[in-house]
Amino acid sequence: MSDLPPDFFGEIDPPDRRLLMGPGPSNVHPRVLRAMSAAVLGQFDPEFTTTMNEVMALYRAVFETKNRWTMMIDGTSRAAIEAAMVSVLEPGDTVLVVSSGRFGLLLQEIGQRCQAKVEIVEAPWGEIVAMERVAEAAKRIRPRLIACVHGDTSTTMAQPLEGLGVIARDSGALSYVDATATLGGMPVPVDAWGADIVSAGLQKCLGGPPGIAPITISDRAAERIYARRHVEKGIAGATDKASNSPPIASNYFDLAMVMDYWSEKRFNHHTEAASMIYAARECARIVLGEGLEKRFRRHQTAGAAMVAGIEAMGLKVYGDRANKMFNACGVFIPQGVNGDSLRKRMREEFEIEIGTSFGPLAGKIWRIGTMAGNARRHHVVHTLMAMEAALRREGFTAPAGAAADAALAVYDKAGG
Ligand SMILES: Cc1ncc(COP(=O)(O)O)c(C=O)c1O
Repeated sequence: MSDLPPDFFGEIDPPDRRLLMGPGPSNVHPRVLRAMSAAVLGQFDPEFTTTMNEVMALYRAVFETKNRWTMMIDGTSRAAIEAAMVSVLEPGDTVLVVSSGRFGLLLQEIGQRCQAKVEIVEAPWGEIVAMERVAEAAKRIRPRLIACVHGDTSTTMAQPLEGLGVIARDSGALSYVDATATLGGMPVPVDAWGADIVSAGLQKCLGGPPGIAPITISDRAAERIYARRHVEKGIAGATDKASNSPPIASNYFDLAMVMDYWSEKRFNHHTEAASMIYAARECARIVLGEGLEKRFRRHQTAGAAMVAGIEAMGLKVYGDRANKMFNACGVFIPQGVNGDSLRKRMREEFEIEIGTSFGPLAGKIWRIGTMAGNARRHHVVHTLMAMEAALRREGFTAPAGAAADAALAVYDKAGG
């Protein structure tokens, strides 16, 4: 017998005006929500597979790549991270992780779970790792994979990745980049970097919901992955010979089978998350419709305006300013202010979410995001004005109006 009340819990009705100014998720574009309500088709329906091919073409443009294998992994961003790492690394391989924050630590942990030997080239949180150090470590260690995070939202730093492909090739390695937090908000020029596998999520600068992860894979990486191909018994045909190498340690995240599914073969791997494919498609249409350059500039201006406003309030911005992400800003919690209490006030009194932080930064900084549709003047100014008022109610008095004025001045200078 169920002890649920007769009216259950009522229709889902979350507050639809909450402004998500944390480090992700950001507010979902209404066009994306509408796309998600389109009819669900079977995963082999030609009209659906045409949509999948469109998604591949759209994300080649978003990732600035010619990679044939540009597709989606069902699951949140870390699904694609795991798929990339588990499909490349076999037990005993070495992965070199470029690490300076929580998501570098996540790459290390996933590497360990793949039973790889994990080597690290690291910098303190709030800094980036110089590419010369990555080159030196790769040359010395000669890893199977070099794994990096582009924008680490835990620290708000953007790791420069120019030359990554050359470093990887010179040391006989493949490279992987987690661009979850930057794709659609900062340049992620996959082919110009020469990166082999790059993945992301919809919920940050792409303006979609969490639940599907765009990924792009170079031919070099695809060759490595296909060399480990073991087709699931129930779907293997007579010509599907298993490779001699150990199978990829996950069935769901086996990129060889996922690639077969996204190829003309349309192998039956999983049941595609149709509504999320529609969401991803609409996100890319919005991003490309705006234009990548224009969109990056919009994020850059919003980020600069947020920083100007924060500093005008007498608060201090966290981390190496020269390498800060466009779309996320760490703010030291001033002495005497309770960080959680301020965030609660922002949410309850102003309907604005800002982020907390993790690990060594827990309780020390707030993280404010300016992502996707929220990277706009009025959202930045509303957030700053609310923060000024909320801070005053928490006992910290900033110069009245200075934050909004400083942010608006950035917009004036940038031409609106
Ligand atoms: C840089 C980075 N990588 C990975 C993730 C994990 O993403 P998800 O929670 O979608 O799995 C996040 C989420 O905040 C992130 O910022």
